[in-house]
Amino acid sequence: MATFQINGRAVTVDVDSDTPLLWVIRDDVGLTGTKFGCGIGMCGACTVHVGGRPTRSCITPVGSVDGAEVTTIEGLDPAGRHPLQKAWVDLQVPQCGYCQSGQIMQAAVLLKDFPEPTDQDIDAVMAGNLCRCMTYVRIREAIKQAAAELKETGAHG
Ligand code: FES
Ligand code: FES
Repeated sequence: MATFQINGRAVTVDVDSDTPLLWVIRDDVGLTGTKFGCGIGMCGACTVHVGGRPTRSCITPVGSVDGAEVTTIEGLDPAGRHPLQKAWVDLQVPQCGYCQSGQIMQAAVLLKDFPEPTDQDIDAVMAGNLCRCMTYVRIREAIKQAAAELKETGAHG
């Protein structure tokens, strides 16, 4: 049994405490925007926020998030209009799309930590999020575009 907040909503799931958070999010809560890639914490496809920090949900036992606040791609912005999501659409970042929710969730924390990120900041923070379609150049540009919008509006990522 575990109880936590997901995208602002309290959920209680009756599963083994070592069940990966990723499966709980997808199968029990029914939010399928978070993807399974490698299952061993090496690709970033399953990235969500736990307590506002990027977390690989495939290797996070649900018992460890008891009482915590989890945010998935569906909860990043209620209207799906986070500056990163807008920039992703503007610059047509995705190719197959599989890695992209994890990329955006990682990038959202990057923008909190580095409001005006350099290429080096982006490369360092995004290094663990793999894209087999090689969209890295567009990801970098979209992060910069979102950072510029956040700076202009004074909002926070
Ligand atoms: S599926 Fe979690 S890091 Fe790859
Ligand atoms: S867009 Fe295909 S894996 Fe990244």
